[in-house]
Amino acid sequence: MERTLVLIKPDGVQRGLVGEVISRLERRGLKLVAMKLMQVDDALARQHYAEHVDRPFFADLVVFISSSPVVAMVWEADAAVEVVRNTMGQTNPASSPMGTIRGDLALDIGRNLVHGSDSLESAAREVALFFGHAEILDYQRNTDLWINEA
Ligand code: RTP
Ligand code: MG
Repeated sequence: MERTLVLIKPDGVQRGLVGEVISRLERRGLKLVAMKLMQVDDALARQHYAEHVDRPFFADLVVFISSSPVVAMVWEADAAVEVVRNTMGQTNPASSPMGTIRGDLALDIGRNLVHGSDSLESAAREVALFFGHAEILDYQRNTDLWINEA
């Protein structure tokens, strides 16, 4: 079973889309195992986006992600990384298919509502940045057998 980090970015919180994003991930069948509303500070923003440090948009990314609260979550499923990424759509909302979060709800690459870890390695690193072990819950859902065959 994989775990992946999802952030509802400041634009998603400000636009009142927290419930919409969570609802789409719940309806897909992923299991929510950790969640908090939090303010990302400059240091956490830089660590989270460390892979992009040399990109021209790095400074804007850091300012934006720390500009207003985010909702940080850990979601669990077989292939959680891939499933979250394809539920979100492409990085650029303008080229995201309808039916995806970004394709249905966003327009601009710098205001693309959500973050999802892009690999299992990134997921492990990012989950540990945002959550302590005790904040990630292990529990049974009564619907599990109706979502996964085994
Ligand atoms: P995210 O990390 O937020 O889930 O998005 P992603 O994997 O789809 O995209 P990534 O390449 O990791 O880029 C991180 C965020 O940087 C902004 N970006 N701007 N102006 C640009 O060319 C550009 N490219 C990326 C986006 O907001 C993207 O989500
Ligand atoms: Mg990324």
